[in-house]
Amino acid sequence: MVDLSGKVAVVTGAASGMGFAIAEKCVSERMKVVLADVEEDALELAADRLAQRGTVLAVPTDVSVAESVDDLRRQAEALGPVHLLCNNAGVSGAGPGAAWEKPISAWQWVLEVNLWGVIHGIRAFLPAMVERDQGHIVNTASIAGLLPFPFAAPYAASKHAVVGISTSIFHELAIRGSHVHVSVLCPGWIRTRIVDSERNWPDRLGALPATDTNPMTQMLEAMVKQLVDAGMDPAMVAEQVLDAVRAERFWVLPNASDFGPVIRDVGASAVEGRNPPMAPMA
Ligand SMILES: NC(=O)c1ccc[n+]([C@@H]2O[C@H](COP(=O)([O-])OP(=O)(O)OC[C@H]3O[C@@H](n4cnc5c(N)ncnc54)[C@H](O)[C@@H]3O)[C@@H](O)[C@H]2O)c1
Repeated sequence: MVDLSGKVAVVTGAASGMGFAIAEKCVSERMKVVLADVEEDALELAADRLAQRGTVLAVPTDVSVAESVDDLRRQAEALGPVHLLCNNAGVSGAGPGAAWEKPISAWQWVLEVNLWGVIHGIRAFLPAMVERDQGHIVNTASIAGLLPFPFAAPYAASKHAVVGISTSIFHELAIRGSHVHVSVLCPGWIRTRIVDSERNWPDRLGALPATDTNPMTQMLEAMVKQLVDAGMDPAMVAEQVLDAVRAERFWVLPNASDFGPVIRDVGASAVEGRNPPMAPMA
């Protein structure tokens, strides 16, 4: 088991939800924790909450911008070499439901944050870890990275990509004989502010796309909100993330018991040439 005490952790999207819970857990493990988020007021509040309990540093960061993530690395390294990077920042999406109806800006936003944010994190932090031959990266994907989710095509695309990148890195590190590790976190429904992601819509992408007035999409959105509100406590996810880091385990599926059967069925449907089953909305 890896002893994390005294090591430096960087968590993106740390002002809220799972990112905050992971940062809090890292503080309780006596790690030095760098909190990064685009929402500056919430970031300051989060850092203030944790500062009484350990060493924390808040760095305003937009993960969709490579230079911002490079700056995060420079500031984090002032605390020491970074041992743990959690590429966690993410947004759920915006605009009308079906893939072909979404404006380019809606695709750009989700892919820039959820996919490019992870790519920027890997490019900024992984080379130094490989050089030192120690460290661990946890990429937050989603159950939507393993299953078909209608009316969330950009989100599903970003999360499938994060799973794909993470599995590639896992094997690249293993083939090189590296002692650096990677995990991919694929949560189901977790009680966070993810359905209010539009609070972080960037002005540079123009006006926020109008919400979908299709009754079916509105019903699905209401169901998702209910499922998230009734979802797992983010602290339980954080517990599992840190367990996986200590045990150097790749997969972290906090809701595996709910989604395991359909994940298996999706794989089987591909091999058997059947149409893909949908993720359960419960
Ligand atoms: N909540 C769920 O049910 C669920 C399920 C599966 C996966 N996820 C994933 O978990 C991760 C964390 O989300 P959460 O559920 O805690 O939601 P959340 O909204 O509570 O937290 C997300 C954080 O990311 C930050 N963020 C957004 N854009 C950013 C940017 N460009 N740069 C830096 N920070 C940015 C937000 O300000 C926020 O603090 C996301 O990647 C999300 O896709 C969530």
